[in-house]
Amino acid sequence: MLIGFMGVGKGRTARCLADQTGMFALDCDDLIESYANKRIRTIFSEDGEPAFRELEKKAARWLEKNVNASVISTGGGFVNVENIKAIGTVVYLHSDFDSIIKSIKSHPNAEKKIKKRPLLQDMEAARKLYNTRLPIYRRVADVEVFMADRPVARVAEEIVERV
Ligand code: S3P
Repeated sequence: MLIGFMGVGKGRTARCLADQTGMFALDCDDLIESYANKRIRTIFSEDGEPAFRELEKKAARWLEKNVNASVISTGGGFVNVENIKAIGTVVYLHSDFDSIIKSIKSHPNAEKKIKKRPLLQDMEAARKLYNTRLPIYRRVADVEVFMADRPVARVAEEIVERV
């Protein structure tokens, strides 16, 4: 399972890992969106962040019970679910905050990528959240992999070697 801050590249790394290993990639936010039948930002705006966190817990319980041998990418806050270690090996993808924001902003779909993330609307608040989350990611992770602007295939290969 891949954890890390918003926009670090968990989804694309998971898809690449799936391709390299022949496993299926599952994305927690996609599971939540299809379960709630709403976009993440609509869940935040209509139901509030606590409702979203409850859906993350529900997804975590479901994953623990029902999913094996898959590559799972998670939302940046999924690290706080209680049973995370019971779901599988936890890999933390690390980049520093400025590199993450720089890479999101230089993406052709930057506006869309920012708009869909409610907690990326205020960059100073996002920086604080990053600083709060960093020690949590590191505490929970079994393996930490450096991401930054490395080719995603190389990052995926490193994960295969180390897990
Ligand atoms: C969140 C990260 C998002 C998404 C939601 C909340 C967070 O996923 O789950 O907007 O709390 O960090 P990404 O990490 O894929 O952006």
